[in-house]
Amino acid sequence: MRTPVVAGNWKMNKTAAEAAAFVDEVSPLIVGSSGREVIIAPTFPALAATVAAARGSNIRVSAQNLHWEASGAYTGEVSAGMLVEIGCTHVIIGHSERRQYFGENDGTVHLKTLAALDAGLTPIVCVGETLEQREAGNTEAVLTEQFTAGVGALQPEQFAELILAYEPVWAIGTGRTATPEIAEAAHREIRALAAECFGETTAGNVRILYGGSVKPSNFTGLLGCPNIDGGLVGGASLDPQSFAALVRA
Ligand code: PGA
Repeated sequence: MRTPVVAGNWKMNKTAAEAAAFVDEVSPLIVGSSGREVIIAPTFPALAATVAAARGSNIRVSAQNLHWEASGAYTGEVSAGMLVEIGCTHVIIGHSERRQYFGENDGTVHLKTLAALDAGLTPIVCVGETLEQREAGNTEAVLTEQFTAGVGALQPEQFAELILAYEPVWAIGTGRTATPEIAEAAHREIRALAAECFGETTAGNVRILYGGSVKPSNFTGLLGCPNIDGGLVGGASLDPQSFAALVRA
């Protein structure tokens, strides 16, 4: 059984005070929604306040990025151990915005995933094709490359610890969600890649989240697909009512 995950990726939104207020408002709305793993990923400066506000609730707190070294001359960067120390349990790695704007690639995804696992953080590793790549018929090749180079060389017991997210770049922040059929086909493909590298059992246990314009109105349809185990949600995770509706979906 794969416990479904609802993860809110807040990107560069909400101050520490706003994050704490969000958690205070959302917590009573999701009391009793067991059988769901609920994760919020605020900005670095809001992490500690979010962790404090979430204490006693079932909300876990994720960072949106990390550096693979433990410390050193890396101006502007944050290490896995620093995230663990302030109470983070998860970290998003390889988001398409990191790949597009900040030079992240499959090699850095690999290093960051190892660093997160070493520190005891659960990586949420993102893969996904651009519209251009999809229209050229390269979706499968892109997913294969990102998967293989990013996480394909992990030890099976390391791979068993992580969460994957399929986020087609053309669906992120565009209002253009992948249909359940398109998303399911990609998730099935990713699970098949996992089975090739790590065996059927491990592949059958890994959670694969869908991300890209998820809303309460389309989430149930996506969750109904056999290989979709939850959502990595941007825009619709910023409003407490909408986030609570996703958790209750
Ligand atoms: P979106 O973002 O839900 O706003 O499309 C998803 C993501 O980028 O993780």
